[in-house]
Amino acid sequence: MAGRWKNDLTYNDVTPEAVFLNRRQLIAGAAAAGVAGTIASPAMAEELVPNSFEDITNYCNFYEFGTGKDDPARYASALTTQPWSIEIDGMVDNPGTYSFEQVMDGMTVEERIYRFRCVEAWSMVVPWNGFELADLLEKVGVQSGAKYVAFETAYRPDEMRGVAFPVLDWPYREGLRLDEAMHPLTMVATGLYGKPMPNQNGAPIRLVVPWKYGFKSIKSIVRITLTDEEPFASWNQANPREYGFYSNVNPNVDHPRWSQATERVIGGGLFAKRQPTLMFNGYEDEVASLYEGMDLTTFI
Ligand code: MTE
Repeated sequence: MAGRWKNDLTYNDVTPEAVFLNRRQLIAGAAAAGVAGTIASPAMAEELVPNSFEDITNYCNFYEFGTGKDDPARYASALTTQPWSIEIDGMVDNPGTYSFEQVMDGMTVEERIYRFRCVEAWSMVVPWNGFELADLLEKVGVQSGAKYVAFETAYRPDEMRGVAFPVLDWPYREGLRLDEAMHPLTMVATGLYGKPMPNQNGAPIRLVVPWKYGFKSIKSIVRITLTDEEPFASWNQANPREYGFYSNVNPNVDHPRWSQATERVIGGGLFAKRQPTLMFNGYEDEVASLYEGMDLTTFI
């Protein structure tokens, strides 16, 4: 496993709110890394100004509550998030049903400001709160031979009005290769802007994989399975030509129906220019080595 994640913000982040978050994150990041300074990634430094809480919570994708961007904000309050439990099974030393509180026990919740790039060619910057997935996987003990991690969202027809429609083969499912799952950038998020995770953003617990298209970041997780086979992934299964298992952000490979070269920044206003999409969503230095020797035009 690579070292712990390093902060990539600088004081170029200009809004007072961003500076506030930035400072807190600098302190947390430096403390976690045991170093005084931080490593900035120049390509993205001045762009990591978080979107507003309003944008992040009102422009969502959560098809279990409808396919409109405003459907999750309107209807996800129907989801009961307390109590919540997650089944962790497959190739682990300590399989079982863990309550949300048991999952959180011993985890250090940090704030991380990540770019978030949706496959639909829009993007946001979100200040997530959460911990590294690796820390949870280490807690349950991954057995040798495990190669992938599968994730599953709750399926509750009584609470999720969108699952009445066969948009996807419910429940929503996603997967990562084990090394991707163990990467220090891969986060289990339990909140944003210092507040508990809003229902529409995947309460109470979701995945955030910042170098992959947003649909890999599965919401409202109820099951995590360690396996030695490439897991079922909902979008990949629905349309393998359009959505690969890897789905790394890649401006050089267009979606069959639209370009991935640029993105619309949510909250940028009417006259905002589209911005170029960066390889691995700007996290190339951190993650490119995971895919050495793989042709990323084939393994989409
Ligand atoms: N997880 C579930 N269970 N259902 C979904 O429809 N949508 C995905 C992902 N996780 C989705 C999901 C997509 S397409 C995106 S872009 C992100 O969630 C959106 O996250 P956000 O609404 O918090 O910005």
